[in-house]
Amino acid sequence: MYSCGNIKGCEVNLIVAVDQNWGIGKDGDLLKRISGDMKYFKNTTMGNVIIMGRKTFESLPGKKALPGRTNIVLTRTENYVAEGCTVLGSKEELFLEIQKHDKEKLFLIGGAKMYEEYINYCDTLYITKIYETYEADKYMVNIDETGGYLVTWKSEVIEEDGLKYQFFKYERK
Ligand SMILES: NC(=O)c1ccc[n+]([C@@H]2O[C@H](COP(=O)([O-])OP(=O)(O)OC[C@H]3O[C@@H](n4cnc5c(N)ncnc54)[C@H](OP(=O)(O)O)[C@@H]3O)[C@@H](O)[C@H]2O)c1
Repeated sequence: MYSCGNIKGCEVNLIVAVDQNWGIGKDGDLLKRISGDMKYFKNTTMGNVIIMGRKTFESLPGKKALPGRTNIVLTRTENYVAEGCTVLGSKEELFLEIQKHDKEKLFLIGGAKMYEEYINYCDTLYITKIYETYEADKYMVNIDETGGYLVTWKSEVIEEDGLKYQFFKYERK
C-alpha cells in the first residue's frame, strides 16, 4: 500500500492559487493571471518535476511543456501526444515514474481533479490566496476547514493593480 504523505518515499509538493472560495479555475482556464504569482510559480517549480492533469496541460500557453522543468501529464486518452512531456495513463504509472525522480523535487500543479486525487500524498502545499471572489467551476478543498496542515511560512500581503494576494506554505501536521 502507498502511505499517506508521500508516494513510496518521494515527497510531493502541491502548488495552487485559490480565490476566497477556494475556486481555482473556470472554463478550462485560471481565474486570474497575476504576474507576481506567475513569477512565484516559475521560481518555485523551476528545475524540478511538475505533474499535471491533461486539462491543465491543455491550458498551458501554446499547449507546450513548461521550459526548464520535467513535465509529466496524466491522461486516459490513448496515444495522447503532449510535446516535451512524459505522458502517463494511470496512478500506478505515475507512482512508478516518480521513483525515477526520487532525488528531485516534485510538484503537483493541478488541476482540480489532480489535487483531489493526490492531495493526500502531499506534505507541503504552496498556496497563493487571492483576496477576491471570482465565478469558478473548479475548486480545491479548503484545507483551512478540513485541517491537517499548519501554516509554516507566509509572505506579506502583496498588492498588484489593486488586487491583493498572499503566499502561504503549509506543512502536514
Ligand atoms: N489556480 C490554479 O493554481 C490552477 C492550477 C492548475 C489548473 N487550474 C485550473 O483547473 C482546471 C482544470 O482542472 P480539471 O479538474 O478540469 O482537470 P485536470 O485535473 O487538469 O485534468 C484532469 C484530467 O487528467 C487526467 N487524469 C486525472 N487523473 C488521472 C488518472 N488517475 N489516470 C489517468 N489520467 C488521469 C484525465 O485526463 P483524460 O480526460 O484525458 O483522461 C482527466 O480528465 C482549469 O480551469 C485550470 O485552469 C488552476
